[in-house]
Amino acid sequence: MPTLTALPPPPPPAVHPVPPPRPSAPTGESVSVSLPFYGRSLAEYVHGFALDLSSLRTQAVLDVGAGPSSFAIEASRRGLDVVAIDPLYGCPMTTLATHVQLDYARVTVEATRRLSGSRLVAREALEQERRTAAQRFLADYESGFLHNRYIGACLPRLPFLDRSFDLVLCGHVLFGPQSPFDADQLVTACLELVRVSAGEVRIAPLTGLSPAEAESLAARLAEQGVALERQPGRGGPAGSRSSLGVLTRRR
Ligand SMILES: C[S@@+](CC[C@H](N)C(=O)[O-])C[C@H]1O[C@@H](n2cnc3c(N)ncnc32)[C@H](O)[C@@H]1O
Repeated sequence: MPTLTALPPPPPPAVHPVPPPRPSAPTGESVSVSLPFYGRSLAEYVHGFALDLSSLRTQAVLDVGAGPSSFAIEASRRGLDVVAIDPLYGCPMTTLATHVQLDYARVTVEATRRLSGSRLVAREALEQERRTAAQRFLADYESGFLHNRYIGACLPRLPFLDRSFDLVLCGHVLFGPQSPFDADQLVTACLELVRVSAGEVRIAPLTGLSPAEAESLAARLAEQGVALERQPGRGGPAGSRSSLGVLTRRR
């Protein structure tokens, strides 16, 4: 087990207006859970979502499809008010630990298969940071679940009232080669993220879409009064660079 940094305990999370979860998504709206239960650290979130943590101290933040990332617990320990959701939250800790063990092994094999030299060393360091993130998440999971820091929920329907959060983050869920969302589901999911946000929705990375698909998504969202802006991401810990999508309601 990696050594965990000793940090002060997080403050009790603020209470959000959470209505009872809907019993099930309407027919045709459910999305299969094909994404790995794999997550990142607060440092990677800061880079990937271009976050300024000091400006988020008074804001309510929602992390959608958070998996075993340690953003929620690390940010909470720095005084931020973060709620994380994932379809697997609500499973016993031992089940999530098994998902972490198997999915991390699978992702690591895939990611390092074609690498060598300094790129392999950099990737292994990143994998280690992500394993540490998962251990931090697992150590916090049962307590955080009881305090509503972790809530079992998934797109395309979120169990929150309109504009419940100041900032909504969604990383490595909607886009990319493993995305289980088709074009219609992407539009529905983006609109749902905007519905629960009083401000911005940040989606990272905005990859895997052809220019034509990106244009079509932006046009369909614009019809619903939502702007999609593509921003360059900041460089990541291993020198990676990804793009960020920002959704906002048009006034
Ligand atoms: C690759 S992980 C990303 C974790 C974290 N957001 C990050 O960037 O490090 C993808 C997560 O999305 C979750 N997921 C799968 N289907 C989902 C859905 N329909 N809505 C929200 N999350 C979903 C999976 O359980 C998994 O934990």
